[in-house]
Formats: sequence, C-alpha cells, structure tokens
Amino acid sequence: MQLSPRLLAIARQVPPERVVADVGTDHALLPVYLVSTGIAPRAIAVELRRGPLDRALRNVQSFGLAGQVELRQGDGLEALAPGEAEVVVIAGLGGDRIVEILEAHPDVRGSVPCWVFQPMSHAGTLRRWLVAHGYRLADEELVAEGERIYEVIRAEPGREPPQEALVMEIGPRLWERRDPLLVPLLRRRLEEVEARLAHLASRPEAGAGARSGLERLANRLGEMLAELGAR
Ligand SMILES: C[S@@+](CC[C@H](N)C(=O)[O-])C[C@H]1O[C@@H](n2cnc3c(N)ncnc32)[C@H](O)[C@@H]1O
Repeated sequence: MQLSPRLLAIARQVPPERVVADVGTDHALLPVYLVSTGIAPRAIAVELRRGPLDRALRNVQSFGLAGQVELRQGDGLEALAPGEAEVVVIAGLGGDRIVEILEAHPDVRGSVPCWVFQPMSHAGTLRRWLVAHGYRLADEELVAEGERIYEVIRAEPGREPPQEALVMEIGPRLWERRDPLLVPLLRRRLEEVEARLAHLASRPEAGAGARSGLERLANRLGEMLAELGAR
C-alpha cells in the first residue's frame, strides 16, 4: 500500500515489534500499514465517530487484517486499558486537543512508554506540556506534503534539558540538526511577526512592551535563519 509522505514520516517514528494504538485513526491507514509491513505485530485503532470507524473497518477488512487491527469506538485514551499499548500515535489533531486527550486519562497515559504525535497546530503548546509532565522529545521530524510542512514528534518518559523558549516552540531536535525545512517554517513565522509589528505601527496607542517583545522575536528569528544560511 502507498502511504502519504506525512503518514510515512509518522510510521518511521514507530519503533518495531510493539503493540501500537492509533488514537483518532479515521481511515486506519497507519495501523494497516504498520501491521501489513510487519513493523507492528498488532494494532488498536481508536476512533470517536461512527462514519470514520466504518471506513476504517472497510480498509482493515480489505487488507485481511481483522485479526491484527482491532477497531474501537471511544474518546481518546478511554478506549485503552493501562499497559495495553506500547506505542500510542495521535496524529492529525491540534496540539491543544492532543494535550486534552493526554490529560483526560493519566492512568493510561502513565503506562505508555512511547508516543508519536503529529500536531496540526500548537506544536509548541504540546512540547511545553510534554516537558512539564516528565517527557523528553526523543526525536522530531519535519515532512513536506503539498503546500504544508508537518511536524512529527516522538516523546518518551524522561527529562528534557532546559531550552530557550523559541527553540522549544520550533522543536529542539529539529533545531539541533538544523533541519532544512525549518527555513520555510521560520520565514513564515517571521512574516507573521513582521505583519503584527506593521499593525502595531499603525496604532500609536499600542504599548511599547508589546512592540519590543515582537521586535526581539523578529531579531531572534532572523538570527536563526542566518544560522541556517537563509538570510
Ligand atoms: C484529521 S483526522 C486524522 C486521522 C489520522 N490520524 C491521520 O493523521 O491521518 C482526526 C480523526 O480523529 C478523530 N478524533 C477526534 N477527536 C478524537 C478523540 N478524542 N478520540 C478519538 N478520535 C478522535 C476524528 O473523528 C477524526 O477521524
């Protein structure tokens, strides 16, 4: 089967020979891929809504994997028992929504040794939450698909060394390896900051504090882009 670059990047972060749960599975293509390629011996695909679950069932059956990919309807981690999954993937949801899912069931969460996340937004919020709750960012990957760049984060229980706030926002492992896809990401971030500064400039009543914070951010983004050879 052919997976999209985004789903392939998520699959690359899943360690082999572990029982995987895919929370918010939708079409169940990721668990079908992991089991059919032998990366995972078994998978549990969790989905909140009936419609996607029916689609998942059709995919699982068409690959003859009903014995190895178990479908469950449920809200986040509630569908899992503690200790059942050795890797949990949560992909395609906002980082803030992922944090809500992690917070809702601490018993299940505490039993999982490996997580793979692909937040669609608020990746910094997710990273900060993970680090504040005893996880380290074991690996991070950027992947381009169409017009978008997606972030994939593998987290494990552990301690993350203190990081500059902006590095935590953009991804410490991505920054350490100077990932080339950071260039378009940081450029976009800088454009947003410059647009906000331009907006502030048209409002003389706006506070100088907000302006100087944004100016510092713009400068730092510029420095990072220069370090990436992009300015
Ligand atoms: C955008 S899709 C992503 C599907 C797949 N994970 C991927 O990355 O391609 C998000 C899916 O998560 C499901 N979902 C949202 N919140 C959920 C929750 N709390 N528990 C289980 N599934 C959820 C949605 O119904 C939807 O099918």
